[in-house]
Amino acid sequence: MLIRRPDDIRPSEITSRCLFERRREFLRLSAGVALAGIFPSAHGALGPGRSSSYSTSETPTPLKHVTAYNNYYEFGTDKEDPARTAHGLRVRPWTISIDGLVRQPKTLGIEDILKLAPLEERIYRLRCVEGWSMVIPWLGIPVSSLLKLVEPLGSAKYVEFITAVQPETMPGTRTRVLDWPYTEGLRLDEAMHPLSIMAAGLYGDVLPNQNGAPLRLVVPWKYGFKSGKSIVRIRFTDKEPRTSWVKSAPQEYGFYSNVNPDVDHPRWSQARERRIGEFSKRTTLMFNGYAEQVGQLYTGMDLRKNF
Ligand code: MTE
Repeated sequence: MLIRRPDDIRPSEITSRCLFERRREFLRLSAGVALAGIFPSAHGALGPGRSSSYSTSETPTPLKHVTAYNNYYEFGTDKEDPARTAHGLRVRPWTISIDGLVRQPKTLGIEDILKLAPLEERIYRLRCVEGWSMVIPWLGIPVSSLLKLVEPLGSAKYVEFITAVQPETMPGTRTRVLDWPYTEGLRLDEAMHPLSIMAAGLYGDVLPNQNGAPLRLVVPWKYGFKSGKSIVRIRFTDKEPRTSWVKSAPQEYGFYSNVNPDVDHPRWSQARERRIGEFSKRTTLMFNGYAEQVGQLYTGMDLRKNF
């Protein structure tokens, strides 16, 4: 058998070795978490994590669709591009800086972030503004567990989420399809809401690169584009952050982007949606079905004006 030195390792092996290491790390973090076995056949190597009352009981979209039909413009604009090209994304070492209007700015390694709270399984609906939807069993921690660490100042009203730019691994960032880095934002109370999570996995396994490894935002009552992938910086501000989509098409996008079947996007009706893997369309629900949990965040606001 051929014995090779470490510097003889082929790039394809580095990817799988990296994934192996990430799985081991994940497994360590999930240790002690009840393996509820909700989807014994569907879950990956790590089990489903601690289950949550915030989860929907709807059937999750098959893994093959969740990981092969993606929006991740840094890797191309076709739905199949990210699965094809995101394998090169460098996800270790990975740090996230949290700064702006805070008492204790910090830069944390992904390993430390994942220890902040027990990984929880959250089975959420994801509704894209393009008119399709999925149900995804995420594994993650509440965004609040990360934000509390830095002690936001009283003047902080918004949180900006800034994502990675790796021109050498992300072909899309070498084009001007968007103003990079892909940036999103939430009001502070939206970010602190218990439904908002930072996801590090799905289907009981580490997050595939095309879904936003190693850590992405998930805000299930807003259109999918608010859920930035591969986050590298979180910044507290006193002004509404200008998001990538608002910069690129201000006539089409706004800051709030709550799922709302009564307000159409200029190019897509929002009244109905196609669940990926299903044939007929279904009615879109206000706040993507999370009205009971988040409706009070918007009391007194004219929701028709806040696409
Ligand atoms: N994050 C980054 N960094 N770049 C992107 O292009 N696309 C957004 C969002 N997060 C995007 C992103 C859009 S439009 C959607 S619908 C969701 O990711 C899709 O998430 P998924 O591919 O995991 O289903």
